[in-house]
Amino acid sequence: MARALVVYESVFGDAKKIALAIAEGLAARLQVDVASARDAPHQVPGDVRLLVVGGPTHAFGMPKESTREGAVTQYGAEIPDTGLGLHEWLDRAQLPPHVNAAAFDTRMDHPKLITRLDHASKTEEKLLRGLGATLAAPAEHFFVTDAKGPLVEGEEDRARQWGTALGELVAARPANASG
Ligand SMILES: Cc1cc2nc3c(=O)[nH]c(=O)nc-3n(C[C@H](O)[C@H](O)[C@H](O)COP(=O)(O)O)c2cc1C
Repeated sequence: MARALVVYESVFGDAKKIALAIAEGLAARLQVDVASARDAPHQVPGDVRLLVVGGPTHAFGMPKESTREGAVTQYGAEIPDTGLGLHEWLDRAQLPPHVNAAAFDTRMDHPKLITRLDHASKTEEKLLRGLGATLAAPAEHFFVTDAKGPLVEGEEDRARQWGTALGELVAARPANASG
């Protein structure tokens, strides 16, 4: 069975729940590993056919050191190392050739006009493309009810379904094909 890797960043646990639900969906068709960006290997193993990455939206974008520090001071988050997260992992990661990829983010359920400004998953996609990955599907957004969560009801189910669809898409492709 082909392999998938899900790498996430999560401050309050919501993006982690989404990552785990996506992995459950993927597991119908792929062998799946899930790792936080702090622990994920920078050299992604050669047999990984699909890399899924995601994390929270901070200040309209991906978390960075200053926004993680903001999460600690404003919201009492506990973050062991505010200098380490998904962006930093993607800055160093090395991917196998022909790897498929997909991105997700978690964000507040603001009016559409405001959420249109959010670009966390757009930046994730840009970094993935820069690493040579081919995006298998458009990014998906999952909503929290408040800055510290919880997720809006039904979002984990939606993440599981998204994972199932992604797994089917990638499993149906020949091993050296992407795009
Ligand atoms: C410092 C900080 C900045 C944030 N900025 C935004 C934002 O610009 N847009 C948004 O939709 N949510 C924003 N949020 C809410 C986060 O998206 C929310 O905390 C996150 O999705 C929860 O995921 P997590 O539990 O995995 O950390 C912000 C949260 C923090 C802590």
